Amino acid sequence: MRTQVCIIGGGPAGLLLSHILHRAGIDSIVLEQRSRSYVLSRIRAGVLEWGTVTELDQAGLGERMHREGFVHDGVLIAARNRAIRIDFKALLGKQVMVYGQTEVTHDLYDARDAMGGRVIDEADGVTLHGLPDRPFVTYVKNGTEERIDCDWIAGCDGFHGPSRQALPKSILKTFEKVYPFGWLGVLSETPPVADELIYANHDRGFALCSMRNEHLSRYYLQVPLEDRVENWSDKAFWDELKRRIPHDAAANLVTGPSVEKSIAPLRSFVAEPMRWGKLFLVGDAAHIVPPTGAKGLNLAVSDVHYLSRALIAHYRDGDDHGVDHYSETALARVWKAIRFSWWMTTLLHRFPDQTEFDQHIQAGEIDYLEHSVAARTVLAENYTGLPF
Ligand code: APR
Ligand code: PHB
Repeated sequence: MRTQVCIIGGGPAGLLLSHILHRAGIDSIVLEQRSRSYVLSRIRAGVLEWGTVTELDQAGLGERMHREGFVHDGVLIAARNRAIRIDFKALLGKQVMVYGQTEVTHDLYDARDAMGGRVIDEADGVTLHGLPDRPFVTYVKNGTEERIDCDWIAGCDGFHGPSRQALPKSILKTFEKVYPFGWLGVLSETPPVADELIYANHDRGFALCSMRNEHLSRYYLQVPLEDRVENWSDKAFWDELKRRIPHDAAANLVTGPSVEKSIAPLRSFVAEPMRWGKLFLVGDAAHIVPPTGAKGLNLAVSDVHYLSRALIAHYRDGDDHGVDHYSETALARVWKAIRFSWWMTTLLHRFPDQTEFDQHIQAGEIDYLEHSVAARTVLAENYTGLPF
């Protein structure tokens, strides 16, 4: 087989890139190692920056998002039983869209199908060859080895995929910060506790109240790294959540059986460069953020925004400025989101080695948010998304 762009990974980054390129007349093949049902079963965060909403709209993917998503004008930062509202709309005239990543991925798969896009799932042993300048990819499907010759490879294969590993150690530089706690997440078929998300700082640890729709809520508790899901009955989860959120929210909380319960570790990670010859790294393949700032999906879209325009300019105008500057352009925005996600995580969590000085700094930062329009504007500007 031959294509212009071989895309490894059928998550949000790979599918969106393939779709935008297809609409511009550029051919691609997506290779996904898992089944479609497996990819669509993943539970992921659901806060879209408005830049992401616009990118999906421009790709013709916004209809169900606008019909079923929830536009939010702000979020609540809670501490010591009081809630500080960060009013994006009043501060910046901006909003976010609450619409699960699973739904975005559903819409992407539907759009790929509708256009006859080539998404090969259950592709095993995907291997990158001929880099940096004469790329081709091999994989095994139903026991048969296949080869795809291509002009470019887009590594959209997430943190554990092969693309980042294809960069020589002499070129690849990685930066990482592992946080000393995890997030225990619960999905419940219950109405959300509040109209907007609540990020709660508490002496017992961080808590987050989020949602998927008016009948499906998503909650998180900070737990020790060594904690296990089996240590947490539903009752224990709900009781702890009530301890960590403001009393009026706790009084409003509707509890119910968990339909999903899992623990995820938190890390910040960046790989540089995001391009080597004909290979690009996109999304989680190049960077990971702690979920505190809800930036994971939005950064994947950000990379796709830059790379799709670069490849369109390459094929349409023979202009390689975007291709040649993709890595530095994408990383400039990545590092700002990495910083914000680190800042939100440091502001809201209890760190095992935290000193009383550290706790006063946290309290001072939250106090500053409560009493300073400038402080709330900075949080709003980063949470709703910096410009592309
Ligand atoms: N061959 C083919 N596909 C692979 C391989 C491989 N060797 N390894 C991984 N993949 C696939 C995964 O199965 C997954 O479907 O690549 C896809 C990568 O998708 P994501 O991990 O979702 O990454 P990305 O598309 O960059 O989206 C980032 O997804 O994981 C969340 O929190 C993350 O919200 C962020 C978003
Ligand atoms: C979620 O709804 O899963 C969610 C929302 C906001 C976050 C993280 C996760 O910061």
